[in-house]
Amino acid sequence: MERRKSSSKGPKRPKRARSTDIAKTALGVEPEKRERKKNAPTKGEASSRDFNVHVKTAKRRDYGSTLWLKRQLNDPYVRKAKAEGYRSRAAYKLKELDEKFSLLRRGSRVVDLGCAPGGWLQVAAKAVGTEGRVVGIDYLNVPAVAGADVLEMDFLDEAAPQALKDLLGGEADIVLSDMAAPTTGHKSTDHLRIVALAEAALDFAEDVLAPGGAFVCKVFAGGAEGDLLARLKRSFEVVKHAKPKASRQDSAEKYVVATGFRGRVDD
Ligand SMILES: C[S@@+](CC[C@H](N)C(=O)[O-])C[C@H]1O[C@@H](n2cnc3c(N)ncnc32)[C@H](O)[C@@H]1O
Repeated sequence: MERRKSSSKGPKRPKRARSTDIAKTALGVEPEKRERKKNAPTKGEASSRDFNVHVKTAKRRDYGSTLWLKRQLNDPYVRKAKAEGYRSRAAYKLKELDEKFSLLRRGSRVVDLGCAPGGWLQVAAKAVGTEGRVVGIDYLNVPAVAGADVLEMDFLDEAAPQALKDLLGGEADIVLSDMAAPTTGHKSTDHLRIVALAEAALDFAEDVLAPGGAFVCKVFAGGAEGDLLARLKRSFEVVKHAKPKASRQDSAEKYVVATGFRGRVDD
């Protein structure tokens, strides 16, 4: 095949017109760039654009742990949490849910189920202020969080609900559950465990919430379904699902947010 010779000499050919004339586009921005702009994070929002950190210890790690570490190192919410002093990237999920549904108010009384390492506790304690009350439970140890009291206990222990109520010392305005059981890899077992945790959280919420209160619970895949959804609809005026941006897109997790608790059946 004959190759065309390129030469720096000779008359310069006029440059070919670019397929996109910037001046002619509606926003004065090339479509590709416009698309990027549309999806670009707004001010203060976490962005992964600038990061591509390599794992220096990759040779000493197995593939799975290297992938996990790489994802952590390049995760904008992990960086943001570190910079802003939050214990976990999960803090931004609650912040987003709060912005969307106006859940946390000054003076609110909050229960946080599955609270380790404490990101949600930090967000809640800041939002409710000294007039409010924040209590949490986790079977993992949670180093002290200013403005929150924590029980180190399994929430499924039959003594846990009463212990939490004693610690709270009254009704709650909001019950949060970010509890997630370690997965077994066996799909139906994992599903049953997730539903069991959500049902136990709802049992507790229905027992401790003041009328008008709210319940936020992590659910997976199709969200709250079947009996759980039916119960939520009976007990709360509004039931919605939400997937905060801080929740990893490749994760099936989402949250059910139920507001306007109708009150205990015995009320
Ligand atoms: C995703 S993490 C919570 C993160 C937390 N919201 C934060 O912002 O730091 C889920 C937590 O649920 C806890 N958990 C799961 N099952 C539990 C149970 N039965 N009782 C107490 N804690 C539980 C786990 O130990 C884990 O710390």
